[in-house]
Amino acid sequence: MANSGSADLVIVANRLPVDRVTNPDGSSGWRRSPGGLVTAVEPVMRANDGIWIGWPGTDEDVEPFHDQGMDLVPIALSELEIEEFYEGFANATLWPLYHDVVAKPEFHREWWDAYVRVNRRFAEQAAKCAAEGATVWVHDYQLQLVPQMLRELRPDLRIGFFLHIPFPPAELFQQLPWRRQLLEGLLGADLVGFQLPGAAQNFVRLVRQRVGHKTHRDLVYLPDGRTVRAAAFPISIDAEGFETLARSEEVEKRATEIRDALGNPSKVFLGVDRLDYTKGIYARLRAFAELIADGELDVEDAVFVQVATPSREEVEQYRILRDEIDRLVGRINGDLGRIGRPAISYLHSSYPREEMAALYRCADVMVVTPYRDGMNLVAKEYVACRFDNRGALVLSEFAGAAEELRQAWLVNPYDINGMKSALLEAGRAEDKDVVRRMKAMRKQVMENDVAAWADSFLAELAAVRPDHGKTVRP
Ligand code: ADP
Ligand code: G6P
Repeated sequence: MANSGSADLVIVANRLPVDRVTNPDGSSGWRRSPGGLVTAVEPVMRANDGIWIGWPGTDEDVEPFHDQGMDLVPIALSELEIEEFYEGFANATLWPLYHDVVAKPEFHREWWDAYVRVNRRFAEQAAKCAAEGATVWVHDYQLQLVPQMLRELRPDLRIGFFLHIPFPPAELFQQLPWRRQLLEGLLGADLVGFQLPGAAQNFVRLVRQRVGHKTHRDLVYLPDGRTVRAAAFPISIDAEGFETLARSEEVEKRATEIRDALGNPSKVFLGVDRLDYTKGIYARLRAFAELIADGELDVEDAVFVQVATPSREEVEQYRILRDEIDRLVGRINGDLGRIGRPAISYLHSSYPREEMAALYRCADVMVVTPYRDGMNLVAKEYVACRFDNRGALVLSEFAGAAEELRQAWLVNPYDINGMKSALLEAGRAEDKDVVRRMKAMRKQVMENDVAAWADSFLAELAAVRPDHGKTVRP
């Protein structure tokens, strides 16, 4: 085919796995991009020959480059596009709408126009890079129009799409003035993957109601004779990689150092999140503080370490959240802490993976309480790092991970008293109970890692479109 490139596998995601940063001396460098998408997809890309198209986190033009075994093709966004497409339509319209309207979504027509323009640029780049009959795997809510745009440019391709975040129920999705365009955009793919079966069902029902296509179970029949499948593929992590890291001497040593620095309390509670209003950070810190105020926990003996990576800092709702958490932590420590014993040790920062593994190793109770989360990989990372079968996980029912990690202490994050009870129970549980639960969760996480996830998605994609393209084996 004329105009085709040479890559047999093309990953298309808004983020590249690395993010451009300006160092204090003014020079530029790279660091790992934040978030679960990169955590999951990076090991898949490393294990395959292929290219990754994405935004390098800056408005500068950056040439394609090679990074740790991956071929990366940057797509520049202008300052205005960062504002309207990324901060606007992606993160102030779609993100809150798809997460149960935890914050109020904003609808602006110029943001939508920028979304269409940027999606087209990604589709054009993918069309340029993909070899004849290649597999193109498009990721997440920022790029829902890419499958259809790409199919128009390159009908020879096998196109998969995976949504990393929840897909909302029809009642919420229908608020979108551009609902039909988004559904049609996704239908450009041969296979549309979601975290949970309920999300796939929401999608198929909406396609039937809003676009009018015939559907049967998980299949959509298009007028041109094409079939699109919608199904669940719960994402995971490089479980063995995390376990190996957690077993290393350096991590073990660092875990002891962290515990010492905290004053060797008998219980360390831990929260690890992007600083996002969907994660329920405020409610969990309040629940912990109330347990101290009630006399159920003592700051001499228990501490809550909350690590929050800065995220989407130009978006208003994220700024408000940051201020709220800063104020809450200040108030709790001011009211309840003692000299050298803050109730909450709050770190507004991003850390290397080794440090995360050390934190997981040192936490007696891992607290994951999102109001809504597609999966939540932090919960799985914690489990993968606990090769000693110790450690209790308190997990929101509204995280996708709760479908698999049934042995966690499951909580409703809207119920503060329920969370208080779960924190106490998890902290006071007998060893035998903790070990039994952790063993069962470890079996689930170690057996269903991210390689298995990619395998099943790509195998299914090849099966939906057997007559087209080359088969990519993960
Ligand atoms: P999301 O994708 O919404 O951010 P996930 O829990 O699925 O949520 O994924 C978050 C990823 O980001 C995990 O791999 C986690 O280890 C990483 N992460 C979260 N907070 C930090 C931090 N402070 N420093 C480094 N990595 C972090
Ligand atoms: C979640 C989303 C990803 C996103 C990540 C980090 O994991 O599903 O698509 O990349 O958060 O957010 P950011 O806005 O920094 O890319």
